[in-house]
Amino acid sequence: MRSVGVKRSFIQNRGEERREMFITIDGGDGSGKGRQIELIRTWFEDNNVDFAFFRDPGDTALGESIRSLLLERHDLSICSKSELALFMASRAQLVAEKIWPALQEGKIVLVDRYLLSTVVYQGYAVGADEREIAQIWNIGQALVDNVMPDLTFVLDCSADIAFQRLNRAKDRIESRSSEYHSRVAQGYRDAVQNWRKWAPGEAFLIDATAPPETVFEKIRTVLEMRLS
Ligand code: TYD
Repeated sequence: MRSVGVKRSFIQNRGEERREMFITIDGGDGSGKGRQIELIRTWFEDNNVDFAFFRDPGDTALGESIRSLLLERHDLSICSKSELALFMASRAQLVAEKIWPALQEGKIVLVDRYLLSTVVYQGYAVGADEREIAQIWNIGQALVDNVMPDLTFVLDCSADIAFQRLNRAKDRIESRSSEYHSRVAQGYRDAVQNWRKWAPGEAFLIDATAPPETVFEKIRTVLEMRLS
């Protein structure tokens, strides 16, 4: 898809050496994450990148069961701490069954959401204070055996714009108030600003109100720099 020059240098630089890398993409509902994932996957395929893709929550038998409990069971009462624990449990399973083995095989691993989502949706968006945010980061990292992303792309979009994009039936979390989703959007900004306090790796806040191709150009620039 992209220029041959990019493709050639990218592959030459990687050589035969196996270099795993863990990349996550995150952002509020309706931020255009799905489209960016498609573009990243196509770019990986066009550049012969040996990659694996997973979604969090999900992608294991346990994780998919937890996902449907969390997102589809509008009838079920789930208190905020249970919700937090269930997202964490799904992720622990995903790391053990899928992410860690793929990294050990030397693959580039791309994951749709990760611990940052929990910090934002179950932390910032419910009004957690700094001590509670620290707890979520700490417990979350312990439960994934400190398998944390090298690169995180965060799509930044106000809840108003994002919600105009969501023209389908909303799941249990998407159905929450616009105030909740505004706190989600602000939570992502705060989390990226304080990234170094809590998480290893790099986080990039990307303006997701721009057209998808413009958003992807920014992601691609970072990927080219970090993968070559
Ligand atoms: P996602 O898979 O992005 O939804 P979709 O299939 O609609 O693209 O995310 C599922 C929902 O779960 C989303 O509303 C965000 C929420 N979520 C949390 O609240 N906490 C978490 O830790 C994670 C990973 C997701």
